[in-house]
Amino acid sequence: MTSSSRTQVGIVGAGPAGLLLSHLLALRGIDSVVVENRSRAYCEARQRAGLLEAGTVELLRAVGLGDRMDAEGLEHGGIYLQFAGERHHLNFRDLTGGRWVTIYAQTEIVKDLIQARLAAGARLEFEVSGTEVIELDSDRPVLRFTDAAGTRHEITCDAIAGCDGFHGICRESMPPGLVRVAERGYPYSWLGILATVPPSTDELIYSRHEDGFALHTMRTLQVSRLYLQVPTDEDLTLWSDDRIWGELRHRLGVPGWELKDGPITEKAISPMRSFVASPMRYRRLFLAGDAAHIVPPTGAKGLNLAIADVTALAAALTSLLTQADPGPAVAYSDTCLGRVWRATHFSWWMTSMLHVDPHQDLFGAELQLSQLRYVVGSRAAATTLAENYTGYFPLRW
Ligand code: FAD
Ligand code: DHB
Repeated sequence: MTSSSRTQVGIVGAGPAGLLLSHLLALRGIDSVVVENRSRAYCEARQRAGLLEAGTVELLRAVGLGDRMDAEGLEHGGIYLQFAGERHHLNFRDLTGGRWVTIYAQTEIVKDLIQARLAAGARLEFEVSGTEVIELDSDRPVLRFTDAAGTRHEITCDAIAGCDGFHGICRESMPPGLVRVAERGYPYSWLGILATVPPSTDELIYSRHEDGFALHTMRTLQVSRLYLQVPTDEDLTLWSDDRIWGELRHRLGVPGWELKDGPITEKAISPMRSFVASPMRYRRLFLAGDAAHIVPPTGAKGLNLAIADVTALAAALTSLLTQADPGPAVAYSDTCLGRVWRATHFSWWMTSMLHVDPHQDLFGAELQLSQLRYVVGSRAAATTLAENYTGYFPLRW
């Protein structure tokens, strides 16, 4: 038996994009249903991003999601760039007229959002299966899924948001031939760890080393997060905890500085890719976040882009559904893609400047070093990095 119901916006995916969209729509009086194929516990524990642009922080505050972030997040006014055995500081506040970034983990944003949605009585369906989006040629698209108890549902919507990540079903449901994909693979991956040890640095360290890139970031003042460049097809079992700490010390070390180690609680390898699908809309099906685009993590743009997309989408759906004005919905894809391509360029640039390509020759290595020297030596070049890193386009809500 199939249960039929209705909502204004059907949302596929309870990652940061889907959950925040549901929250923003509710603030405008628009009803939504979120379906997610994983469990709530899984969504709340999945280790991913941790760095928020100033505009993302301001948006979360403006929509009532800032309390725990303001209490527990760590504001950083710059980063360290390290190469050729030297560590240099870039002061973002000075370079950008006061902009900053905040460390607050994606896991915590997802927990805050789920709690806020459930407290508001929203319909969130975890552990669904067989998600489908159909009737996409009409003004009443339909979201179908089977709930955790095994009941099949069919929800008639005014619009559907595909916030279902890179491996979701919404992008693939768009008509064949409509979507154009621009992509780039990278010949390396990241091995990321979470460790129960206070960070050995006050701000993030991005290190270009001849044996590969390393990044020291953090989650709290008690928990460190660190990354190492590894080969694309690397086997995680080759990396004992001792080997990881040894390699981090080697790539991050400078005279007079010590990396503290501690118990590793999580270890994973992630591939790196740039991918942009356009357009991000077909009639009343809208893609947002990783469902439409992926950036390599260097520069920390993935989560910030997902939040920017749904901020634009919430405004577009408000115009469409409450003022019968389709203008912002029609412009949605172009509105998002300007920011997406800027972040795609910045992430590609940071990645290419800081990683060692396995086929790199002396020419490539010298170009990277020259670029890094220029960034730390020229105020204009440092400002370019700083304004992209802290967030170049304001978010409008
Ligand atoms: P997601 O978080 O992927 O959420 C999509 C949701 O849709 C998931 O919960 C998924 O289970 C659900 N879903 C998928 N298919 C279906 C279906 N058929 N039916 C129902 N639900 C479905 N960014 C950074 O800025 N810094 C980082 O360090 C960083 N690290 C990352 C590490 C990894 C391993 C990955 C994969 C990404 C990382 N990112 C990082 C990127 C960042 O986490 C993403 O950009 C962000 O999660 C995007 O949010 P989203 O809501 O668009 O997608
Ligand atoms: C983090 C990840 C990044 O890719 C980055 O550039 C900065 C921070 C993080 O996980 O905290």
